[in-house]
Amino acid sequence: MLTVNNLNVSFGGVKALNIDSFSIKDKELRVVIGPNGAGKSTLMDILCGKTKPNGGEAFFKGENIIGMSEYDIAKRGIGRKFQKPSVFTGLSVFDNMLLGLKTDKGVFSSLFFKLSGEQSARIESVAKKVGLYEHLSKPAGALSHGQKQWLEIAIVLLQEPTLMLIDEPAAGMSDAETEKTGELLCELGKQNSVIVIEHDMHFVEQIARDKVTVLVRGQILTEGTFSEVKNNQDVIDCYLGTPGSAQTVSR
Ligand SMILES: Nc1ncnc2c1ncn2[C@@H]1O[C@H](COP(=O)(O)OP(=O)(O)OP(=O)(O)O)[C@@H](O)[C@H]1O
Ligand SMILES: [Mg+2]
Repeated sequence: MLTVNNLNVSFGGVKALNIDSFSIKDKELRVVIGPNGAGKSTLMDILCGKTKPNGGEAFFKGENIIGMSEYDIAKRGIGRKFQKPSVFTGLSVFDNMLLGLKTDKGVFSSLFFKLSGEQSARIESVAKKVGLYEHLSKPAGALSHGQKQWLEIAIVLLQEPTLMLIDEPAAGMSDAETEKTGELLCELGKQNSVIVIEHDMHFVEQIARDKVTVLVRGQILTEGTFSEVKNNQDVIDCYLGTPGSAQTVSR
């Protein structure tokens, strides 16, 4: 589904990412962990076309997406949820989702075009999936932090991606919201390939049914199952054992 080779990028002469090889399979749910500044979000920035790397390849369904625009990459089926929620707070949940609906029309015209029953049904079905059906008419600004994150996930889902890139979905969520988010991601992982970046190790444990990748200083330190990674001495030294760099305390 996705194969990355020799991908590297520097910012101001400092290497932020230098990955020899990284690949994920169809319908795999991959979790990427690592300290602050390790390059996790930068990897997603490159995969969605927001950041151009200095070198390397990323084959998505056999096609090298490096050098393509964000629009062309999205069209090929890679959807991205950013670290900070950025929904339109003044618009209703429904209208935010309408803007995210896959359509050939531009952003502004899509607010005014006549909604078909099919499109409306699709918004409702995705809203149900992420637990926002009851809140469709509410302004997005009135949602809780967790609900805003789900709205962002809903907007990504409406683009019908085959690979979803989800950056720190549980940051700032309550325990109940975190648990629900984990269930949602596991559900999404049955239909799509999903890459999730996360710091909360309890949450990682909940969702990591496939491999976990550990990124440190722009490089892949190791990959393995949750328990392999958790008990890896290098991972403990570089990340898990450092107070404040991973949320390993009991919730
Ligand atoms: N657009 C940019 N311009 C300059 N430097 C950048 C840019 N994006 C990222 N960096 C730098 O690259 C490094 C990796 O950052 P990145 O945001 O990918 O880390 P991260 O692993 O996502 O960290 P966190 O866990 O804090 O979100 C950092 O040193 C960061 O300051
Ligand atoms: Mg980040």
